[in-house]
Amino acid sequence: MNADAVGTPRPRIEGRFKVTGAAHYAADIPVPDLAHGWMMTAPLSRGRIRDIDASTALAMPGVLGVLDHRNAPRLNPKAGNYFGPDGSLRLLQDDVIPYAGWPLALVVAETPEQARAAASAMRVTCDGEPHDLDFTLEHPAARPASTAFGPEADIGDLKAELAASAVVLEERYRTPEESHCAMEPHAATVWWDSDHLYAVDSNQGAFSVSEVLAALWSIDREQVHVRSEHVGGGFGGKGACGPQVVLASMASRRFGRPVRITMTRAQVFETTSSRPRTDQVMTVGADADGRLRAIHHRAAYALSPLSEYIEACTEQAKILYSAPAIRTRLTAVPLDVLPPASMRGPGATPGSFALESAIDEVAERLDVDPLDLRLRNQPTVTPASGKPFSTRRLVSCMREGARRFGWAARDRRPRSRWDGPLLIGSGMATTSFSAGVFPSKASITAEPDGSFTVSIGASDIGTGARTALTAVAADALGAGTERIRIRIGDSDLGMAWGAGGSRGTTSWSFAITEAAKKLRENLHDPVRPMTATVDTTTMIDFQPDRERQTYSAVFAEVTVDPATGEVRVRRLLGMFAVGRVINPLLARSQVVGGMIMGLSMALHEESVRDPRTGRLANGDWAGYHIAAHADVPDIEAGFVPDYEPQDPSGFNGLGEIGTAGTAAAIANAVWHATGTRQRILPIRLDRVLEQTTAVAGEPRGARSYH
Ligand code: MOS
Repeated sequence: MNADAVGTPRPRIEGRFKVTGAAHYAADIPVPDLAHGWMMTAPLSRGRIRDIDASTALAMPGVLGVLDHRNAPRLNPKAGNYFGPDGSLRLLQDDVIPYAGWPLALVVAETPEQARAAASAMRVTCDGEPHDLDFTLEHPAARPASTAFGPEADIGDLKAELAASAVVLEERYRTPEESHCAMEPHAATVWWDSDHLYAVDSNQGAFSVSEVLAALWSIDREQVHVRSEHVGGGFGGKGACGPQVVLASMASRRFGRPVRITMTRAQVFETTSSRPRTDQVMTVGADADGRLRAIHHRAAYALSPLSEYIEACTEQAKILYSAPAIRTRLTAVPLDVLPPASMRGPGATPGSFALESAIDEVAERLDVDPLDLRLRNQPTVTPASGKPFSTRRLVSCMREGARRFGWAARDRRPRSRWDGPLLIGSGMATTSFSAGVFPSKASITAEPDGSFTVSIGASDIGTGARTALTAVAADALGAGTERIRIRIGDSDLGMAWGAGGSRGTTSWSFAITEAAKKLRENLHDPVRPMTATVDTTTMIDFQPDRERQTYSAVFAEVTVDPATGEVRVRRLLGMFAVGRVINPLLARSQVVGGMIMGLSMALHEESVRDPRTGRLANGDWAGYHIAAHADVPDIEAGFVPDYEPQDPSGFNGLGEIGTAGTAAAIANAVWHATGTRQRILPIRLDRVLEQTTAVAGEPRGARSYH
């Protein structure tokens, strides 16, 4: 009997365990004989350690010892990430300080309080060197970014198309450094048993963390066992092996005891990773009738020389619009900064802010409706590559979103609506986000009692992946969800992609579906238990070469107070094309959460650094504002009917599409309200005030607030 689990709204399976405290996280899993590590971090952006005096700290109660570059275990310097050697993991190996927040030493004690007290008694002397934090697209050290995610676009004659354009827009857009801000701070509990390493760690992919730890320690992957059963959010900040698990593994090795490191919020800000600053120039040419002729997207991002990373800001310029000439140039600027990492729709989110703001500005200059302008320039094949699209339901998103939002009633003149003393504006943006699958291994066992055990090294970082995969397995096995037991979050379950790149659920579902197929082929044999195992590596190699993306159209209505510059989002509506939806309840949560992050990016989030030291001036949740309940309006999210033909069940990623288009929609609404463009995020009060008061013209509304 088929339960038809896919398509049914169901709450998270583990929700009860979480709200009752029964779910264990990396920082609270019970382990006997536990010791605690406390990081000491660098107060400056570049320099060398001259001396570390631990004598006072070592004499303090409960202190087991201190690890620093002079005495720490040696790690394999070639261990790396996806792109190659990763210097950000070579912790306590030399005296070089590469960024403010870099771990200088680890104090280990019986309790976290003792370790923290001893850390404050440490005397570290550093020699500062001049650092470079001056980020700009024109920086002399700027170099072409890696093209590991795909080549630059270079079609048509850009110069000629711009020359032939009736309107040419050239504007610059900037986004700040931002911090991931997952609810659960990074933490790890680690122990060794002879030459096997055991870790309970907060990350987005236990298998890949086990691979990195094995490389760092030059041991076999099978000797490393990473468990990450419950993780309190990641947003990309836990996508790679984190410093907490590396340092804890070193301390555990040295002191022969299990060691736990739980970062403070401030340490998460300064020591883990962030979204890099971007500086982007859009040059867009169009005919008077609203045909785009040229799109030139230049984007730069700040990069640490410690490890390669791609902030792929120019991807959507290759995909969203047809134009005879399209050129993209992505540039990395190596600076003395915290190594960046993927964050909440990496690349696409800052990139979309630039592209979709620019398209809105072109519509303004042509005096056409920005939705119409977008509809007029939809491609039939991927503009930059000529590849066919897999599924592209963007127009449906736009039309349905416009209908629900009431877009047709909008007067497109700016500063045309008031509500008492407040200016009202609405805006929209569309976007795409890369989708696909990565290899994973799944095993399913048909148990003697008629139930099924599904094992896959998947991660549920709070998204509901465990619940979604249970439904997928139930459908694939033709069994009710009550007969499915799912095991995830453990590197011993085998190779699997992590919860990242909007590819977790698609990659794992693919493997589970194939394993179920294999099991059912053999199930006529009455012998139970029976296990089928599938590794999707070679199946994925034979996928057709089509452009696989998810799409969204986001509509926003804002109020702007011209007296204070305060922007409030009044309404937010997103329509999404994400393939077939597995669990409408969780899918909605995911995209609504993403839109809130986009709102937060548009209006609030910004890491501010002291230029003299490079240290964060607002590295905590008092100073770094993320959208809270009072900032969030009624949000509506919907899904258009869609089916991804490259997936055996029609699924596509939906992890990050919610975030990507939202900031531009809000910025465009702020323009509509005020008549001035906000090209620098976040749209702070001071920026709005400065720009808005620079515009002549008396408000037509009530002035009673004066
Ligand atoms: Mo996500 S930012 O790709 O972990």
